[in-house]
Amino acid sequence: MIDVSGRAIPIVQAPMAGGVSTPALVQAVTSAGGLGFLAGGYLRADALREQIRAVRQATDQPFGVNLFVPEPPRREVDLRPYCERLRPVAERYGVTIPEPDWQDDDFFAEKVEMLLAERVPVVSFTFGIPDAGVIEAFRAAGSTVIVTVTTADEARNAVTAGADALCVQGPEAGGHRSTHRMTDEPGRAPLVELLRRIRPGVPVIAAGGMATPDAIAAALAAGASAVQLGTAFVRSDESGAKQAHKDALADPGRPDTVVTRAFTGRPARAIRTSFVEQFDGATPAVHPQVHQLTAPIRAAAAAAGDPEGLALWAGTGHRTARTGPAAEIVAELWTQAERLR
Ligand SMILES: Cc1cc2nc3c(=O)[nH]c(=O)nc-3n(C[C@H](O)[C@H](O)[C@H](O)COP(=O)(O)O)c2cc1C
Repeated sequence: MIDVSGRAIPIVQAPMAGGVSTPALVQAVTSAGGLGFLAGGYLRADALREQIRAVRQATDQPFGVNLFVPEPPRREVDLRPYCERLRPVAERYGVTIPEPDWQDDDFFAEKVEMLLAERVPVVSFTFGIPDAGVIEAFRAAGSTVIVTVTTADEARNAVTAGADALCVQGPEAGGHRSTHRMTDEPGRAPLVELLRRIRPGVPVIAAGGMATPDAIAAALAAGASAVQLGTAFVRSDESGAKQAHKDALADPGRPDTVVTRAFTGRPARAIRTSFVEQFDGATPAVHPQVHQLTAPIRAAAAAAGDPEGLALWAGTGHRTARTGPAAEIVAELWTQAERLR
């Protein structure tokens, strides 16, 4: 089992699903002394295995893999009124809205089986806590197990279930909030306050809005062993983010981010766009079915290079995200953060 806080540089590159976390990004951050994460969400086991093998070919350093924990489907929710609202937007993009797939559990079991066989150094879970048996199996396979939490209750439950470390995610974070029930409204207490409140007795990785050396130093001073940064790497050379996403982070005309269910049915922080304006507050808390329903719209927007229909995940610090090699971003942030400690 590896000590996640024992890396030369306590900066973790967040798993970023949807193609942002590439093997090249993981390798770059890991070789710079941090800890890189592959994102398993929305991928089949085979595709994720290929990425793991690509990382292993490039480096012998430890790295992590993240999975989304599925919840029982909320079949009781009638999605037809929501589909009716989506329809004009889909027509504008020339796509059709699919039928919801209620069997979709993000291929969780097949990915768990594959990761156990691959014996990856670190595994993290988002959106919930896997069964104690799954955690135990990973620990027996030599993997360090991290669970992402957003409240003190979730933290307690994760430690009781056997997590080796927690990723404590604050409301500043870009992308999905890791609330353990999709119907929960995410908390608003700032990350530093959460870090003071959550003393789990296992190492804590702090996540959310950290884009400057000051924010990193503050999280470490508040008790975190390491910090997890997502948005700071979205514009990096090795990031697989779409160009429209990278550009939007730096666009002075897009200063606001908002936590919205509009794209996937789960709360996530994104740059405000016309799609967010139209569907924020009007989207049922049904994940991943809402993700399935909006996917063709997002794909068409991506193909057209149109940011208005894209899920532009971004944390509150997005305006400082910069371009360049990820290793340089790690080194620059850490050199300055260390001086502030
Ligand atoms: C583009 C993007 C995709 C993300 N995808 C995931 C994911 O697949 N799994 C996960 O646990 N967290 C994901 N997150 C959230 C990060 O783990 C982390 O909590 C967040 O990036 C921290 O806030 P920051 O973006 O302000 O640094 C994502 C964040 C971003 C920006």
